Amino acid sequence: MSLDFEDKDIIVGRTLDHIKKYGKTATGYIGKVVVSGGDEPVLGKNVLMDLSRPHVAIICGKRGGGKSYTMSVIIEEFAKQPFEVKERLSVIVIDTVGIFWTMKYPNEEQKGLLEKWGLKPEAIDIRNLVPFGKKEFYSMKNLPYDGYFSIKTSQMDIEDWLGIFRLTWKDQESALLSRTLEKIKEKTGTLYDINDIINEIKKDQETTKDVINSLNNRMLVAKSWGLFSKTGTTMKEFAKPGTITIVDTSTYKESIGMESIKELIVGILGKRLYEERMLYRKEEEMGLVSGGRKESEMPIVWLMIDEAHMFMPSDRQSMALDVLLQWVRVGRQPGLSLLLATQRPNKLHSEAISQCDFFLSTRMTAQEDIMAVSTIRPSYLNIPMDKFYGQMPKEQGYAILLDDNSEKVMLIKIRPRTTWDGGKTANVFID
Ligand SMILES: Nc1ncnc2c1ncn2[C@@H]1O[C@H](COP(=O)(O)OP(=O)(O)OP(=O)(O)O)[C@@H](O)[C@H]1O
Ligand SMILES: [Mg+2]
Repeated sequence: MSLDFEDKDIIVGRTLDHIKKYGKTATGYIGKVVVSGGDEPVLGKNVLMDLSRPHVAIICGKRGGGKSYTMSVIIEEFAKQPFEVKERLSVIVIDTVGIFWTMKYPNEEQKGLLEKWGLKPEAIDIRNLVPFGKKEFYSMKNLPYDGYFSIKTSQMDIEDWLGIFRLTWKDQESALLSRTLEKIKEKTGTLYDINDIINEIKKDQETTKDVINSLNNRMLVAKSWGLFSKTGTTMKEFAKPGTITIVDTSTYKESIGMESIKELIVGILGKRLYEERMLYRKEEEMGLVSGGRKESEMPIVWLMIDEAHMFMPSDRQSMALDVLLQWVRVGRQPGLSLLLATQRPNKLHSEAISQCDFFLSTRMTAQEDIMAVSTIRPSYLNIPMDKFYGQMPKEQGYAILLDDNSEKVMLIKIRPRTTWDGGKTANVFID
């Protein structure tokens, strides 16, 4: 049986049962099917992507192929959902480069292209959160933001600190920190900040001055990240229903040690959301068992991660890896959905690739990357992946779509975005 809903639409990422039950509700228009190749490919049906259920979705492709652009198109579709759908969804975008805030502005630049698609430039409502201690950085660069986020200091366990400071249990600083955290917790419970830790470290009698100074210097560096506070941003605030939240981590540039801050942010956020969601699910189940009504307070959370190989690498540990693997493995039940974009599928943890149920790929030429995604080659794909890549148009915006639900493979053209593109390739020429 075909999964075509109407002649002009095709729904992907949704089971046939759900298509029959819900039709096109809670889907997003991401592009059109390419019906014939060549220099001027002919476009056919509209491709509507399911946004209602948790997925593990991957967007890959080489540099400049259109991954971030495609992610933005999907984000726009969340923004356009009617209220009753939107209030059940929450989108959190991890922005490592600082390109998604421009979605607040309409895409006047591609007005002509949009017109050809029957669309017009249109901004969407997003919330751009920046680290609470980095306000000057954004003000200096004239970058708009809508609020701050911070991590509750007590949510950092000893392993997190050791990871971020690149310490091991062999280092004397580690024992000192462990002791200190125990003491602070005894005294203050969970309400403490880095200053409290520093003051407590100074009082330690069991170690040398050098070790105390060494750890305190690290703590001062951590303080300068402007990330930790006594209370922290709550998960309810992060995962606000009906809200698209951009978590802007671009202030932590790619210098030594800084990349682990981004991992830490995603790791803690992922862990806390997972814990809260599991707890909530339990309460929900208990309510149902005792005859209550199913009332969902916490929306389905879509965590979108651009440059995902940085957080779920295939060849090293990352502070976010374990928790994201948990999302991949069991996120469906607690309503946790992932959208991962990467230019290096070869560098992305293989489990993310093998577990994905929705796969989009713009052009790729590196053999090792094509090999990495070939491992997902499902039974319904009867031509080898590399052949598919060989036939793809070179122009940006084309993508291979593999959909486990409909067991379909198709070449699609991603629609132009209606919001301003902040990720445009740097160009030495002035256009
Ligand atoms: N569907 C599309 N329609 C029109 N233009 C597109 C489309 N997709 C991509 N482009 C163009 O290609 C440019 C590069 O796209 P994008 O920034 O998404 O690449 P990327 O794959 O994320 O690259 P990188 O790996 O460097 O982050 C965009 O700025 C846009 O001009
Ligand atoms: Mg990109």
